[in-house]
Amino acid sequence: MGHQVMKPSTEELNLIKTVLAFDETGTTQLEPDVMLNPVSHYTDPNQLQTEIDILFRKFPIIVGHAAQLQDPGQYITHNDTGTPLLITRNKTGEVKAFVNVCRHRGARVANEPCGKANTFSCPYHGWTYDLDGKLRGMRQPQGFPDLDKSKHGLAELPAFERFGLIWVRPEPSSETIDIDAWLAPMAEQLASLRLETHTIFSEWSIHRDMNWRIALEGFLETYHFCSAHKTTACASYLDNQSPFLNKYPHIRNAVPLSKITKLREQDQQTWDYRSNFMTQNYLFPCNFVQAMTDHVYVHTIIPTGPGTCIFKCMMLIPEPVASDKAQKYWEANRSVVRTVFDEDFAIGEGIQQGFATGANTHFTFGQFEAGLQLAQRALNDALQGQLTVSVKA
Ligand code: FES
Ligand SMILES: [Fe+2]
Repeated sequence: MGHQVMKPSTEELNLIKTVLAFDETGTTQLEPDVMLNPVSHYTDPNQLQTEIDILFRKFPIIVGHAAQLQDPGQYITHNDTGTPLLITRNKTGEVKAFVNVCRHRGARVANEPCGKANTFSCPYHGWTYDLDGKLRGMRQPQGFPDLDKSKHGLAELPAFERFGLIWVRPEPSSETIDIDAWLAPMAEQLASLRLETHTIFSEWSIHRDMNWRIALEGFLETYHFCSAHKTTACASYLDNQSPFLNKYPHIRNAVPLSKITKLREQDQQTWDYRSNFMTQNYLFPCNFVQAMTDHVYVHTIIPTGPGTCIFKCMMLIPEPVASDKAQKYWEANRSVVRTVFDEDFAIGEGIQQGFATGANTHFTFGQFEAGLQLAQRALNDALQGQLTVSVKA
């Protein structure tokens, strides 16, 4: 189940060298200053509403994997962004996304998590839409003598298939989003993961009682590994010596396995990146592509209220399961990761409960908690209108 050894990119070669230097000198990457983040960012309902309106409406969110929409007619629904989504592959093979809301009187047109269909018939009164969201027909049309069907299609949303993942910007818009420009800083690495050839081993969604930012921050620093994950992740990785590459507004956090120090005795020509790192890739505003040595977790964190969020995760493996041994191997991996995530979430819910005490007016992001600082800057920029998704002229 090992991965295919690939020649590291220049960036990856530099990451290896950086980590070996950290290890040799007992240092790590430092931001110039500590950063203070007001606790109101996590608690204020008005703050949350602004975040939903901007971060969760105006930026692309990962909603699935290409394997879920392999054939024309396959569709998935997604109900967690606050905009109910219907995502289809149409007859010409394009991925399309729509607001899953009937144009008659608003019922949800598709109600299964996934399926295959040529048309969607609204369960309320039977208006029917095709894979391109066009209104095809209705029962007893004599009741709507002047209705222009061409103006009553499902509202379309920008949707994209890139690097084997399905992305939707959950707000109708006439703008043409330049998804390639948006993902460009991460493109080389995402392409190298070849997620389009992976299959979904498992997916899950978890509701937790904490502000979405708390969950997000658990994946943006590695300072906590050897306390919060003392008996799990700590042993596998170098302690708090993971470089953060600013791929604004995204972040590549390369978390070295302890065994990386052995590379020092090895000819540089034989150095391998993937087998020596877990890579936490933050894709602004709420998506992660977390690459393990031989499989990948794709997660999204979405607020459902000021003190609640949903964590959605897909576990992608490089080839379909072909044996009991493989099944057991991937199950064991999933189980370890779910335990580690739960360790974070349990702490996160404790943080949430502590807000009401007023013990903190702000949180302090250390100089080596670089991911927190970088993400906070990008989030602030977006909330202040300084960062927008690239639009094609
Ligand atoms: S609400 Fe959909 S057909 Fe009436
Ligand atoms: Fe963690």
